[in-house]
Amino acid sequence: MADMDDVREGKQYHTDKPQETEGFFLKGSNALDWGMKNRLARIFNPRSGRTVMLAIDHGYFQGAVTGLERVDINILPLVPYADTLMLTRGILRSVVPPSLTQSIVLRASGGASILKELSNEEIAVDIEDSIRLNVCAMAVQVFIGGEYEKESIINMTRLVDAGTRYGIPTLAVTAVGKDMVRDARYFRLATRICAELGAHYIKTYYVEDGFETVTASCPVPIVMAGGKKIPEIDALTMAYNAVQQGAAGVDMGRNIFQSEAPEAMIQAVRAVVHDDETPDRALDLFNTLKHKG
Ligand code: R5P
Repeated sequence: MADMDDVREGKQYHTDKPQETEGFFLKGSNALDWGMKNRLARIFNPRSGRTVMLAIDHGYFQGAVTGLERVDINILPLVPYADTLMLTRGILRSVVPPSLTQSIVLRASGGASILKELSNEEIAVDIEDSIRLNVCAMAVQVFIGGEYEKESIINMTRLVDAGTRYGIPTLAVTAVGKDMVRDARYFRLATRICAELGAHYIKTYYVEDGFETVTASCPVPIVMAGGKKIPEIDALTMAYNAVQQGAAGVDMGRNIFQSEAPEAMIQAVRAVVHDDETPDRALDLFNTLKHKG
């Protein structure tokens, strides 16, 4: 008789207050379905609108790179400071504890190694396994101008189609061939193609000249790739410039896990990304944490 007990006068319908319909905080993402938005909100912090993704997926084509020889020892202590961990399903299942609460972005393309043509990739994870692993996005390499340009674009569109069926976003990673020019014109082209063909967010490199035109002309969020190891102040400056020029965060690997003090470095990167800390102040934080730790 529970229903009868609840029938009484004075219910609080708040008829004078229209229900609020909030817009979604991420650029270009308002028309997505609830599950997809919820996954994106686990990657991007709704307070800052940005993310610190820790990229440790390098092994899928490079093997055990410096700093990733022992993910259990070198990387797991960094995870609490990351919003998201970007990695392969092999490392996820074999090393990462399932009690982790950070979101996972799963490397979903592969098939080439550093010994061969890198653009010759395919989709390397079934959508069912992405669902089983409860990932918040799937990442695919897109080689605009590369030898297997078309194949890599089609990999991306197939992943977008599969992910859309189940509410899992696709991260397009704009991969640059060894001999290709890395400038704003190239990245405008690459990021826009990925967005036009359905990527939900895009990872691209920072360029000194005109990066703001790359973020402005891309209708979905861009995260900055870290690239090869550079001095801490340079990496922090690059991250600072990228977010100030419109990036929605970073997806950084070597500049964190190859730092002389990785735990201090990821916290300094967080300060730049989420708190708009300047590179100099973030470097002070890095040095303080390094000496403490
Ligand atoms: C390469 O394509 C991998 O996806 C890495 O995730 C990417 O290069 C980011 O790592 P890093 O900051 O070391 O360049």
